[in-house]
Amino acid sequence: MCGIIGYVGSRTALPLILEGLKNLEYRGYDSAGIAVISNDQLRIKKDVGRVDRLLADPNFNKTKGVIGIGHTRWATHGKVCVENAHPHTDCTEKIAIVHNGILENFRELKSELLKRKHIIRSETDSELIAHIIEEYLKIKPTFLDAFSEALKRLEGSYAILAIKADEKVILGAKKSSPLVLGVSEHGIFISSDIPSFLEHTKNVVYFHDGDIVKASPDGFNVFSNEAKVHRPIDTIDWDVEQVKKGDFDHFMLKEIMEQTETIQRAIQQDETIVKQISEAFKSAKGIFFVGCGSSYHACLAGSYVFSKISNLHVNVCLGSEFENFEHFLTPETLVVAISQSGETADTLGAVRVAKKKGCKILTIVNVMGSSLMREGEVSLLLKAGPEMCVLSTKTYTSQVALLTLLAFVVADRLEDGKNEMKKLWLEIYKLTSRTMREHIRKLAHPMINAEHVYLIGRGLQYTTALEAALKIKEVSYIHAEAFAGGELKHGTLALIEEGTPCIVFVSGENNKIIQNVHEIKSRGGVIIGVSPQQNEIFDFWIKVPEVGLLSSIIQIIPIQILSYYLAVLKGLDPDRPRHLAKSVTVE
Ligand code: G6P
Repeated sequence: MCGIIGYVGSRTALPLILEGLKNLEYRGYDSAGIAVISNDQLRIKKDVGRVDRLLADPNFNKTKGVIGIGHTRWATHGKVCVENAHPHTDCTEKIAIVHNGILENFRELKSELLKRKHIIRSETDSELIAHIIEEYLKIKPTFLDAFSEALKRLEGSYAILAIKADEKVILGAKKSSPLVLGVSEHGIFISSDIPSFLEHTKNVVYFHDGDIVKASPDGFNVFSNEAKVHRPIDTIDWDVEQVKKGDFDHFMLKEIMEQTETIQRAIQQDETIVKQISEAFKSAKGIFFVGCGSSYHACLAGSYVFSKISNLHVNVCLGSEFENFEHFLTPETLVVAISQSGETADTLGAVRVAKKKGCKILTIVNVMGSSLMREGEVSLLLKAGPEMCVLSTKTYTSQVALLTLLAFVVADRLEDGKNEMKKLWLEIYKLTSRTMREHIRKLAHPMINAEHVYLIGRGLQYTTALEAALKIKEVSYIHAEAFAGGELKHGTLALIEEGTPCIVFVSGENNKIIQNVHEIKSRGGVIIGVSPQQNEIFDFWIKVPEVGLLSSIIQIIPIQILSYYLAVLKGLDPDRPRHLAKSVTVE
């Protein structure tokens, strides 16, 4: 999705906004733009491609001015072109806005503005906002009043920042799209996400839906329903090093390597809260785990673990499909919504359906203050630190680790769970060692020319296969598909040809999966075994420790590394796969 950022303070805004935009690029990177107020005039630069393209204009880079806004785009309305890049301006070119979200009443607003003779220059829904503010400025006394009236006309989701050439303020508003404010010593940042200003401050203010913020060099005020409201300043415990690559070429590898620590942090939870949550699990009549993408795969892994460790049945549902099951929701249902960002629209939508039915809601997120966190009665934080690569790696394993811990708590075996998981630290360290990475890199070499990769597993290993397939396809663009071992013979076996790479996840004494591997091998498949034991049927063996019910936390790691090398060896950017965004805030 798009990323937006604004700065108002005592420093030159342009470099701060550029730097912030780079840290928001994971939200979208098909075009970018900046507007700065300089000598009571708007100076705007936008271009298709990555934020770095904005640096190409040395004249613009000298622009002074202490107020500015920026945007990095993931196209929804309108193709990727300079005209559709933000910021957008009104007819007078005095007002500039940036927007993340979707306006549902776009057509109606556009035809109304065209009747009023507005000159609309782009295909976007966002541009209309600037023109609506322009309209209201004709009848309202202040920029804030006009902005606030304009918002009443918008249906859909938005995080918006607006500036006006002759005003020393930034106005912001949010509804169902993320927006957070940072208070630094030299000025105020307002942005889609904290990493964009973490280098300057850890003091953040979270907004509620419907809030309007007015920020100036002197500070900020928040309004809700036209009255001033207090929103507290919180301190985030993220570290600025976490939003830098350090010695790594890419965030993806850095974040894979961090898993030794992130797993430990994920299970450091307040025991009183965790025990309360356990009671909610035990008393619930119907439990749903809901998520999207990798978070959905974590939900699936969690359901197996809950079945085996706590003898509890859990329904697993994609966020976007959840409404189909609303007939089964009652006030006694427990809905556990899982999301790295806490902003995924489909997951938020599911929670809103559940809330209407009076269900109990537990949310598990990585981003403090995120929308999902505020929707739940109880929320647990993954504590993985900011994840900058578009692909989920460390947050996926943290989600599975935390769900596994909860399964142990529900089984009244909290200490057992902690002790079991402590054994993982060293194992993850070994799995991410240089020797292991080199071993996997050798496997990646011949695989870069593969058109298809198939992955199989049974039980927990099936859920790992699903997540592993997602990693491979989203970063290397190789078609990868996962199956439960038993399903292969029901169709997919027809696709196996001489040399087709097939990754098999093995744990315990699961001989049935080896039987499936024989079926593949006899049709020419090349077998890559992710397994504690060597087997003569493997053409390539990735040794993983036997950790039983914790296997989905660690068996994914070699395939995260494999995916990384597949991308790098193909000359692709693993942090920014094409067409994808980290946080998908539209349905
Ligand atoms: C996007 C990302 C995925 C992620 C999914 C859910 O599609 O590219 O990596 O798994 O959203 O995100 P969430 O923030 O809800 O975990």
